[in-house]
Amino acid sequence: MTEKSNDISALKEAVLKRSEVLGHTLRADVVTFGCQMNERDSEKLKGILKTAGFELTDEEEGADLVLYNTCTVRDNAAQRVYGRLGVLKREKLKNPWLITCLCGCLMQEEGSADEVLRRYPYVDLIFGTQNIARFPGLLLKVISGEEQVLEILKEPAGSHESLPAERKYPFKSGVNIMYGCDNFCSYCIVPFVRGRERSREAAEILKEIESLVRDGVKEVMLLGQNVNSYGKGLPDPVNFAALLREVEKTPGLERIRFMTSHPKDLSDELIEVMASSGKICRHLHLPLQSGSDRILEDMNRHYTKESYLSLVHRLRNAMPELAITTDIIVGYPTETREDVEDTIDVVKRAEFEGAFTFIYSKRAGTKAASLPETRDSGEIGASFDRVLKTVQEVSSERLKRFTGKRMSVLVEGVNERDPKLLSGRLSQNTVVHFPGEASAVGSIVPVRLTACRGFYFLGERQD
Ligand code: 5AD
Ligand code: SF4
Repeated sequence: MTEKSNDISALKEAVLKRSEVLGHTLRADVVTFGCQMNERDSEKLKGILKTAGFELTDEEEGADLVLYNTCTVRDNAAQRVYGRLGVLKREKLKNPWLITCLCGCLMQEEGSADEVLRRYPYVDLIFGTQNIARFPGLLLKVISGEEQVLEILKEPAGSHESLPAERKYPFKSGVNIMYGCDNFCSYCIVPFVRGRERSREAAEILKEIESLVRDGVKEVMLLGQNVNSYGKGLPDPVNFAALLREVEKTPGLERIRFMTSHPKDLSDELIEVMASSGKICRHLHLPLQSGSDRILEDMNRHYTKESYLSLVHRLRNAMPELAITTDIIVGYPTETREDVEDTIDVVKRAEFEGAFTFIYSKRAGTKAASLPETRDSGEIGASFDRVLKTVQEVSSERLKRFTGKRMSVLVEGVNERDPKLLSGRLSQNTVVHFPGEASAVGSIVPVRLTACRGFYFLGERQD
C-alpha cells in the first residue's frame, strides 16, 4: 500500500534515535477532519511518517506523535478541532515526549495558527496546506528540540505528488488533478485557505493512476474543488472531458469517480464522455447550494434555478441510471422563506438521490460575512428541517428504483456492526450491505438489491 518513497533519511535517523531512547517503535496517529482532499493529504502525511520509521495507529492514547489535519469550511469543523486540542493536553501531561502537530485548512486561515500557539502552548508543530512536502524537515526541527515550529506559506512550496502515500484502502484511491479554487463563492473560505487554482499535467496524473493500478487500485476518485474547469493554465491545452477519455484507457482500472463538479462549468462534452464510458461511475455530485436565483447570484454561483434543472434533465436523459447528489446551504444571509421554497422546489424536481444539507456558517474574510443576517437561528433551524425532510423523502423514493436489480458492488470491508455482512458501494455511490466472506473485500461482485432502507440497500450476492 506504500507508494514511491522519497528521501526522508535525516528524519528517519532522528526517529530511530528517539525510538532507542524510549525503548519502542514510535507510534503516530493522524486524525483527519473534513473533505476528500484532506483525506488524500493525510495519506501522504502518513506515508511520510511510515517511511520515517513510525508505526501508524488509530489510537491517540499511547501515541508518540499526534497530527490533526484540520478543516475550517464551517465553524463546527473548526470547533471540533479546538475541542480535541483540549483533550490532547491531558495526553501531553501524561507523556511529555508526545509530539503534537497541526496542519490543514484551519491552520492556513489568517490568525488561526497564532491563536493556537497562544491558547495551546503545548502544540509543537503547525504547518499549512501549501507546504505538506516540507513536513519531514519541519518534524526534524521538532525532534531536534526546536519549540513551537510554525510554517504557513501563501504559495505552494515543493510538490508532494511523489511523496509516499499510505492509503486507507488498497483497492481505491483519490488522485489530485488540481489544487485550490478561483471561484470565490461568497460564503466559502476554501479559495483563501487552499490558494489559487492549479491543474496538474495530464501526463503526470496518468502516470500516477497507472502506478496506483499496478499497486492494486481498481477505483480512482479524481479530486479537485472544481474538476470541470480542469486544464486552465496548462501549457498543453486539455479539458476535463479529454482527461477522462485518457484515464479511461488505463488498463486494469475498473472505476472512475470525480469530485466536485461545479454546475457552471459542466459541459455537454463531459456528459457525452460519461454516457459512453464503461468505467466512469454513474454518480455525479453537483452542488446546488440554493434554489433561489437571487441567492445564487449573491453567492456568485453563475447559474439559475432553471439552468441547473435543465442541466439535471440533460444528465438524466443521457444516463437514466445516474445518481445525482448535491450540497445545500440553508440560512444564507438575507435568505427569506420564499428562497427556501425555491430550494425545496429544486430538490423535488431534480429528484436528488442524496444531499448534504448545511446551515450557513459565517467565515471571516468572505464576502458573505459582511451581509446582514436577517433571520434568527430558530427560523433557520425550521427551514433546515423542512429541506432535510424533503431531501430524505425524495432521495429514498428515487433510490427505490434500483430495488430488485442485480448490480456491481465494490466491496469495501466487513460491516462494522455485523461481521456476517460485507459493505460496499454501487457505481451510484450508494452503500450496500450483504452477507459474504471477508475474502471478497476489494473485489467487484454482483449483488441483487433486495431492500432499500432510505439511503442504503440490503442485498444478496448473485454470481
Ligand atoms: N457555510 C455552510 N456551508 C458551507 N459550505 C461551504 N462553505 C460553507 C459555509 N460558509 C458547504 C457548501 C459546499 C460544501 C463542501 O460545504 O455546500 O459545497
Ligand atoms: Fe468554495 Fe465555491 Fe470553490 Fe466550491 S467552487 S470550493 S464552494 S469557492
